[in-house]
Amino acid sequence: MEKMWSGRFSASASNLLDQFNASIMYDRKLYREDIEGSLAHARMLEKQGILTQDELKQIQDGLAQVKKEIESGEFEWNISDEDLHMGIEKRLTQIIGDTGKKLHTARSRNDQVAVDFRRYVLRKNLEIAKLVKLLMKEIIGVAQKHTETLLPGMTHLQHAQPINFAFHLGAYLAMFQRDIERFESSYERNNVSPLGCAALAGTPHNIDRQYSAELLGFERVSVNCLDTVSDRDFALEILFNISTMMMHISRLSEELVLWSSYEFGFIELSDEYSTGSSIMPQKKNPDVPELLRGKTGRVYGALVGLLTVMKGLPLAYNKDTQEDKEGVFDAVETAEISLEILKEAIKTMQVKPQNMHSACKVGHLSATDLADYLVEKCNIPFREAHFITGKAVAKSEELGIDLSEIELKYLQEIDERISEDVLDFLVLENSMNARKSQGGTATQRTQEQLDYFKKYLEEQ
Ligand code: ARG
Repeated sequence: MEKMWSGRFSASASNLLDQFNASIMYDRKLYREDIEGSLAHARMLEKQGILTQDELKQIQDGLAQVKKEIESGEFEWNISDEDLHMGIEKRLTQIIGDTGKKLHTARSRNDQVAVDFRRYVLRKNLEIAKLVKLLMKEIIGVAQKHTETLLPGMTHLQHAQPINFAFHLGAYLAMFQRDIERFESSYERNNVSPLGCAALAGTPHNIDRQYSAELLGFERVSVNCLDTVSDRDFALEILFNISTMMMHISRLSEELVLWSSYEFGFIELSDEYSTGSSIMPQKKNPDVPELLRGKTGRVYGALVGLLTVMKGLPLAYNKDTQEDKEGVFDAVETAEISLEILKEAIKTMQVKPQNMHSACKVGHLSATDLADYLVEKCNIPFREAHFITGKAVAKSEELGIDLSEIELKYLQEIDERISEDVLDFLVLENSMNARKSQGGTATQRTQEQLDYFKKYLEEQ
């Protein structure tokens, strides 16, 4: 098959080359962006007197027809056309004749692909941010019911201090808010039009880049053409944004897996979002959070893959860059389905406050409160208070109880300065509510945090 660029070649391309070189089987996903880019370019050419009104009209009608054919499934995607840009232009020329060949005036595939891919990525930044917002809403809905539900706060996966479940979920809300901000700032930063950069150096034609940028909804025109045709920072940014977001999703998933185990028993995932075993009839497995954790890996792969593709490229465009798309498409689709299924899994899971509360009675979670009591009420230096508390913990262990349940007489045997008011300090609820410094776990502080996230979402 004759190539558009075959002028200087005497032998035609081998089949093997076609297979190796083509991106049309996956970049066809960008057909809308490509057609819109061509329409904006053609309108600009007409405004500048490079195309006549009649030629513009033919191109507009022809592209409308191409779009229809693509959307009805009639369009023939051939790997011998190499990429969607040439596939669409070839079909346009078949439909409208020689005028189709004028469309590429003052344009190269290098700025064309930069326009198409950038617009796809910009749009996806916003679409994914919106999905993260929906997930946050769902998490807030669950959290709102649990500002008083105690569970053990942990460090090193060891019981540390009592917190409430809404506070724990609030930590993820904070992560997801940063994720949204990252998607939105990438959108702002990369909202520049590559159209008119042509192959690398601009064009001698009298074009109006500002005009085509406006038609495409870009905020600005890029500054340096050599940079623009080989810039894939926007793609790296969305991959990084998705990777970080998936890292957050993966951490939450890890907790969902742990929490749904017998040993924790803090939640039960709904049947709808759990799976069975092919051999063990009794099993109910948390495949959804496990897969979310697993899929995080492939997204990192896409990020590292593209960073590696880009790192050795001389200016400007190099064909290596064609390897930018599949990883981004895959990461975007992974992010979208992950956000949706996580939202559903959270919405339908059952929280088990009783088990969370029982877990708080293991590990002497109010030990820090006893030390704080000794400092505050008995004027004992913290290091000494720490030591005395250690003794109280050892005594509780000896008695086989939790520190929160120890009787006053045992504490007074350890240190006579301790009086009855200590018992209030040891109550787990009081321990949680005592942490009322800004951003702390106290119910009232947790509620402030939930209100903050609600307001943030309302302002969006
Ligand atoms: N399919 C190519 C890509 O995705 C389009 C640009 C090709 N330009 C070129 N001069 N070969 O990067």
